[in-house]
Amino acid sequence: MIAWRDELNIGVDAVDKQHQELVRMLNDFLEACTQQKGKEKLEETLDFLISYTVKHFNDEEALMKGAGYPHYIEHKAEHDQFVKEVAAIQQQLKEKGASVLTTIKLNRALVDWLINHIQKNDQQMGEYLKAKKA
Ligand SMILES: [Fe+2]
Repeated sequence: MIAWRDELNIGVDAVDKQHQELVRMLNDFLEACTQQKGKEKLEETLDFLISYTVKHFNDEEALMKGAGYPHYIEHKAEHDQFVKEVAAIQQQLKEKGASVLTTIKLNRALVDWLINHIQKNDQQMGEYLKAKKA
């Protein structure tokens, strides 16, 4: 379980709400994994993730563009990398079916992304957006 904590808030309400939704989904998945139901939950998690992150990343990118964020290119590259990673896991699922390995892969991709991306890149973006507004 990943408890929502202060370091995950970037101070931009719309973005924080979407991140909370992603953490909820991640926790559902982690919970399923601990009950040995990760494989069953894999497809549902991937479907949700793909549609939700498309919207979420688009929203973040629009905010960055609108504010003239100087690290837009690098930030977007991280989003694209994450989308690619998730798409590769989905492809693997289609070709080979759910396995413990695909489950672990998704698990790791999600936790890494959450910890690294939100706490570093999104936090930095939040600082900039807040300063611009003030
Ligand atoms: Fe981001």
